[in-house]
Parts: sequence; C-alpha cells; structure tokens
Amino acid sequence: MHVELYERIWMWAAGALVLAFLVTIGITAGMQAMSPPSHLETVDPAALDSHPEFGSPGVAQRPDGRVVVTVVASTFFFTPDPIEVPARRPVTFRITSSDVIHGFQIVGTNANAMAIPGYVSQFTITFDRPGEYLITCNEYCGIAHHMMVGTLVVREERP
Ligand code: CUA
Repeated sequence: MHVELYERIWMWAAGALVLAFLVTIGITAGMQAMSPPSHLETVDPAALDSHPEFGSPGVAQRPDGRVVVTVVASTFFFTPDPIEVPARRPVTFRITSSDVIHGFQIVGTNANAMAIPGYVSQFTITFDRPGEYLITCNEYCGIAHHMMVGTLVVREERP
C-alpha cells in the first residue's frame, strides 16, 4: 500500500506524541507520585460522627510539626468555619462530604478539590500571604449551592 510521504511523517509524529504523553504519565505517576487527590482512601459517609478523624473536624498539629486540617462538607456549609492556619508552613487538607458531592476551592490559590461522600480528598499547600481567603463550593449541590462558602484565615506566626 502506498502512503504519501507527508502522511507518513504526520502518522509518525502523532505516534511519537502519544508515546511522549504515555511516558510523561508513567514518569509523573511512578517517580513523582502524582495521583488524583481522591479515591485513595475511603470513609463511611453515614458514620462520620463516630469517625476518629472526621467525627471532630478541625485544625490539628501533628507531632512532626505538620498542620493537618480535617474538613467535612455538608449541604450547605463547611466544618470547621472559619479555618485558621499558620502562614509559610505546609498545610495538609483532608476533605470528605457527609451527603452529596461538593467542591472545596480556596479562591486566589490553586487549592481545589472535590468533596465526595465515601472518599477522602487530600492535598498539601503552603500559604505565603497572611490574610482572609474565601472558600467556595464549586460543584452544584442543591438549592443553596451558591451560598455555600467558608473562610480561611492565614495567620502570621509569632516567633
Ligand atoms: Cu456544596 Cu455546591
């Protein structure tokens, strides 16, 4: 079968691109531990009240100095609210939902995760600028979705 030279060039180019993308996914997943921020850890959404971590959501400092924020999203609020964290330290957010799918977006930052019932979404971020940030739900979750907001307060740590 005869294939035009230009056609052959483009076929090889398209094949090379697909290969490059697959290699990129392999490297980031295997060597840099990239993964979607959810669906790794499950939790029973009907038993959140008695869960050791999500039963009392809040800001906690772990023995190794890490700051961990546990958040439960429910129609139509986030718990806790406000969330207070220190500036310039890595803060790990662990988020789940007690009812339907919600979003958890900290406006003006790249913190953005889904709150999915049954799963824990987790990401770590460092806030360099102290101040007040708006948290919004960015997944339509019902009649008062547009009013589902929270506040994040990033505080300057005293030496
Ligand atoms: Cu919660 Cu939209």
